[in-house]
Amino acid sequence: MEIVKIQNLNKSYYKNEKAFNILSDLNFSVEESEIVSVEGASGVGKSTLLNILGAMDFFDTGIVEVCGISIGKIPEREKEIFRSEKISFIFQHHLLLPDFTALENVMIPLLINKANKQNVRQMAVEILDRVGLGNRLDNFPSELSGGESARVGVARALVSRKKLILADEPTGNLDRENSRNLMNLILELQREFRFSMVIVTHDLELASLSHRRNKIVSGQLQPI
Ligand SMILES: Nc1ncnc2c1ncn2[C@@H]1O[C@H](COP(=O)(O)OP(=O)(O)O)[C@@H](O)[C@H]1O
Ligand SMILES: [Mg+2]
Repeated sequence: MEIVKIQNLNKSYYKNEKAFNILSDLNFSVEESEIVSVEGASGVGKSTLLNILGAMDFFDTGIVEVCGISIGKIPEREKEIFRSEKISFIFQHHLLLPDFTALENVMIPLLINKANKQNVRQMAVEILDRVGLGNRLDNFPSELSGGESARVGVARALVSRKKLILADEPTGNLDRENSRNLMNLILELQREFRFSMVIVTHDLELASLSHRRNKIVSGQLQPI
């Protein structure tokens, strides 16, 4: 089954009554358990595409189906449910909540999804252990290195075992060694959990590890 199916997607931003066309008749699909990169120069619309996939941004015309749900057609309330059930994000700036420990940051998506509370702590501990942070559970984000924060971000995205992970420049803030470690960790976990993943990245090393590469050119997605 296709996890992502986009047909003839058009997206413009409107500013001072002028339209800026960002994505034009873009087509894209992602299969189950596939890792696909989206590359391209700064400002071409990579984050815009990712945000549309996550139902975080609107689009003008076209069909966007994620996990079989046509997200252009569903009301706001259902978008929240769609996001909480189907999708996780990994961000460049990790966006950990500063007043919560690593463990709590990873538990939060499970608590939002009203998982069984007794299991939540256990599941969060297990995934943090898996990403090599079993000895950092009680550290606050300010007490973690950049590489460690990135791994907490990965743990938080993977703890609820969603079908689709959307990653926007996940290694953007890291040095080479930490980028490599994070990439290898993501790949290892993907082989185990079999999620699909769209990775927006400038990082050619990361992109080259995806199963299929694409770039946005003139508002359209081209295979590399
Ligand atoms: N909310 C917005 N309003 C108006 N223009 C925007 C908005 N968000 C992004 N843009 C513009 O859309 C283009 C694509 O942005 P973005 O998707 O963030 O690019 P990328 O992630 O490829 O660097 C950029 O030119 C940006 O300035
Ligand atoms: Mg971007």
